[in-house]
Amino acid sequence: MAGHPALLKRVKDTDCVGLLQWALPRLGLRWPGFRRVRGQVCKRVDKRVHTLGISGPAAYMAYLGDHREEWKVLDGLCTVPISRFYRDRAVFDYLGDTVLPILARSATARTEPTVRCWSAGCASGEEPYTMSLLWTHRVRSRFPQTALAVLATDLDTQLLDRPAMAAAASGSCPRRGSTRRSSTRARSTV
Ligand SMILES: C[S@@+](CC[C@H](N)C(=O)[O-])C[C@H]1O[C@@H](n2cnc3c(N)ncnc32)[C@H](O)[C@@H]1O
Repeated sequence: MAGHPALLKRVKDTDCVGLLQWALPRLGLRWPGFRRVRGQVCKRVDKRVHTLGISGPAAYMAYLGDHREEWKVLDGLCTVPISRFYRDRAVFDYLGDTVLPILARSATARTEPTVRCWSAGCASGEEPYTMSLLWTHRVRSRFPQTALAVLATDLDTQLLDRPAMAAAASGSCPRRGSTRRSSTRARSTV
């Protein structure tokens, strides 16, 4: 099964999909969420297979069977850090136009000063930053007594050092190359 890395072929998409469909449920993950973003994961699997010097996904499945500790490595390879501002437009429109106003109205009725939201799996911070933008531009003027507090967390602490996360935490505008900030979570109130 082992071979020189230079002689090994790239893992084919269909083989990688087969591997992921087999492995993801065993990691407590679901294939549908990975279908569109599998390219990134497959590239990492490809690299891992080559590093181990084995012949491909089928051999990697056997390797996983023989090396329980490898599941942790595969779990790490399956983290997809894609994030964009207003990533899913329809979802953010619904949050900004419907959900946040309902929560703001309810908070006002209860004289509660803060609406709290949690961006769980926030990657580099574009999602919590978008929540802040929604509040600032679509909700705040109608509910001036109420603030939005955004708690953002991610499994991957390295992502939390990225510029967008620092900007989301400080409430400033994100810029490439801006000062980095290290944290396992970030909290911002707007
Ligand atoms: C595809 S990104 C999505 C980022 C953001 N929610 C967005 O839509 O822009 C998924 C993020 O979830 C994080 N993640 C995955 N499993 C997690 C878990 N169990 N707890 C916390 N974060 C997790 C990953 O590290 C990754 O940064």
